[in-house]
Amino acid sequence: MSETKKKMSVLDFRKYKEQSKKFTYVTAYDYTTASIVNDSQTEVILVGDSLGMVMLGYSGTTGVTLDEMIHHIRPVVKGAPNTFIVGDMPFGSYNVSIEDAIKSANRIMKEGGADCVKLEGGVEFADTVAAIVKAGIPVMGHIGLTPQTTSQLGGFKVQGGTPESAEKLLADAKALEAAGAFSIVVECVPSVVAKALTKALTIPVLGIGAGPDVDCQVLVLQDMLGMYGDFKPKFVKLYANLRTAMVEALNEFHTEAEAGTFPSPEYSFNAKVEGYE
Ligand code: KIV
Repeated sequence: MSETKKKMSVLDFRKYKEQSKKFTYVTAYDYTTASIVNDSQTEVILVGDSLGMVMLGYSGTTGVTLDEMIHHIRPVVKGAPNTFIVGDMPFGSYNVSIEDAIKSANRIMKEGGADCVKLEGGVEFADTVAAIVKAGIPVMGHIGLTPQTTSQLGGFKVQGGTPESAEKLLADAKALEAAGAFSIVVECVPSVVAKALTKALTIPVLGIGAGPDVDCQVLVLQDMLGMYGDFKPKFVKLYANLRTAMVEALNEFHTEAEAGTFPSPEYSFNAKVEGYE
């Protein structure tokens, strides 16, 4: 584990922005991956509802349940004690009533052990955000491309590409900030719009597919490490190609097992047992 890494707090998010200190934020959904991220310099982990697609093989994120989220948040919290953990609120866990939203957020904090919750939506969810914050739970917003409502958005499309939709994004961001959100994920928007949002807010903008002029860069870990093979968005840079490396390793294992060269004595228990050769 990196010795100097100290877990970020909610208050550090604003401090980092004030100091123009950029940071990184990736997904994890299990103990082993979380412990690897914890050993890196990455400051923030999202247990995102993208787990539906990446881990559970669903076609989207809307089918993910609150129980599934909590099931995955717990091991990540255990695996990454020096990393700030965000628990995503899945579709249906906060859009029925404010009371429901507070109950769901409570479960993510109490049963999951996350450091905050994240939910998708702008102006329309400002009252929900304010109520969760009032209940004592830090909230991260998420605007732009909101995967839970892609059916309403007409698919996985860049948002804020017209002056009107860029204005709406700015209004969403301001409403979330006023409601008490401590940071906002902005997904799939033109770089110039993300830059303007970053300038307009006092809370950090965490960009995914939002260009370089934001406070923090976000990526889905299985995308950036080349593990998830179904789909690669344009904004994902492959920092490694673990899928290829894993397939190669598995094939090497298969070849050696087939040839009988694995396991060699080095990987076997070689005790002599009377009556056996
Ligand atoms: O669930 C997720 O992975 C997300 C990111 C795309 C920010 O919400």
